Amino acid sequence: MKGIILAGGAGTRLHPVTLAVSKQLLPVYDKPMIYYPLSVLMLADIRDIMIISTREDQPLFQRLLGDGSELGLRLEYAVQDQPNGLPEAFLIASDWVGDDSMALILGDNIFYGPGLPGFLQESQRGLDGCVLFGYHVSDPERYGVGEVDEDGRLLSIEEKPQHPRTNRAITGLYLFDNKVLDIAKNLVPSARGELEITDVIRSYQARGKARVVDLGRGFAWLDTGTHDSLLDAGQYVQVLERRQGVRIACIEEIALRRGFIDADACYRRGAALPKSGYGEYVMETARKERETR
Ligand code: TTP
Repeated sequence: MKGIILAGGAGTRLHPVTLAVSKQLLPVYDKPMIYYPLSVLMLADIRDIMIISTREDQPLFQRLLGDGSELGLRLEYAVQDQPNGLPEAFLIASDWVGDDSMALILGDNIFYGPGLPGFLQESQRGLDGCVLFGYHVSDPERYGVGEVDEDGRLLSIEEKPQHPRTNRAITGLYLFDNKVLDIAKNLVPSARGELEITDVIRSYQARGKARVVDLGRGFAWLDTGTHDSLLDAGQYVQVLERRQGVRIACIEEIALRRGFIDADACYRRGAALPKSGYGEYVMETARKERETR
């Protein structure tokens, strides 16, 4: 399976903060926002990852993450010139994806909760159709809302409905089999002029091939698209990290734990950031790993 992080968009709700820099490079407490979706793909054991951004921002993402080899990843970069909708990612990535299946994650979505790696790996196995992740929210009218039968099959999906049928928001993480490439090619823009992910999902749903996995109560799904939600997300991460003394979405730690890199490579990454608590944490993680060897 290949991974795509969609990190384009205009970020208009965060103006003027995003006039000169991509939303996905803004800090969420102690690390750039893109670390969070990147860490989700890594937890799913996905190592071939394409980062799609605007043309102006692409060099910044490259400066931040390079070719991924220091993390045991293979990173590719591609441009989306205009925010023409999420499914454009499949058109952009089509040649690179080839015959593979893929996970698409929005660059401004944060997932944190118990059992995430297991969840993701299980959902990938024998993937036939698409898998969506549902989350109970108090304000479903702001999201794509899914109705699901008792077997977890999607019955309907509506984008920002005025009268939502359920409280289940469909989050910004999607797993698709290779058929999504053909589906995306045949999409037409909606009334708002964008290609719509709900149209892609409906095409799977019509064939009974859209499955929803609900993320339970113990889970956090945060989005960071407004000034308040961005600050809330930062504070959430700060509270958890201070309380537990572990870092969320530390990409070096995840790379080490999943065996993408060894302790020496992990240590080198931390040593390059010696004055930050983050760098110290990465070095400490590497030291502990060496001791247990
Ligand atoms: P949105 O929050 O819908 O859009 P945005 O980031 O441009 O922000 P705003 O609404 O404030 O203008 O996008 C969700 C995520 O998807 C975000 O990470 C950007 C990304 N995205 C793209 O990369 N390309 C697109 O065409 C769209 C619609 C979104």
